[in-house]
Amino acid sequence: MELHNDVERILLSEEQIKARVAEIGREISLDYQGKKPLLVSVLKGSIVFMADLMRSINVDCEIDFMSVSSYGRSKTSSGVVRILKDLDHDITDKHIIVVEDILDSGLTLSYILEMLKSRGAASIRLCTLLDKPERRKVSVAVDYAGFTVPDDFVVGYGLDYGEYYRNLPYIGVLKPEVYTK
Ligand code: IMP
Ligand code: MG
Repeated sequence: MELHNDVERILLSEEQIKARVAEIGREISLDYQGKKPLLVSVLKGSIVFMADLMRSINVDCEIDFMSVSSYGRSKTSSGVVRILKDLDHDITDKHIIVVEDILDSGLTLSYILEMLKSRGAASIRLCTLLDKPERRKVSVAVDYAGFTVPDDFVVGYGLDYGEYYRNLPYIGVLKPEVYTK
């Protein structure tokens, strides 16, 4: 395993990501004038996006984190979602923005969104950095999306393969031999 060397090609550069995150931040800032949104990051993949996005939002906001079971080393969704860490906040009457790294099958997010809705939030919107529509199994409404990506498994900028590669500053596609090791 060798971090940068395992990447076959860079899909989104640091500069591209930075520019797009700033745009989304501006859009959210305009949409939430006079409101104090609670940004909910779904661990762990979205932490890098969350950290950049929150600094490009210029209205008062709070942050919180939740963690659900992930795929582990497997690359496909099991459809089973388990809450490993719940929110610290009571979200009743709050304006929630769920911040995700990637919308893939939609199974994880549709579960999370339904659960948050049942807790009486004033509003819930979804902000995902990446959208992989070809893989969707359940439809999920996206309010803010950074980039639409093809059906390739991507890593970096928070996204992992077997918990590694999250610290790549760009988003890339791994060499096929990395999966067969
Ligand atoms: P979904 O339930 O299939 O939409 O799964 C979403 C989660 O799967 C994301 O939050 C990621 O953790 C993971 N995931 C889906 N596609 C990728 C990918 O291409 N690279 C890395 N992680 C992925
Ligand atoms: Mg993951």
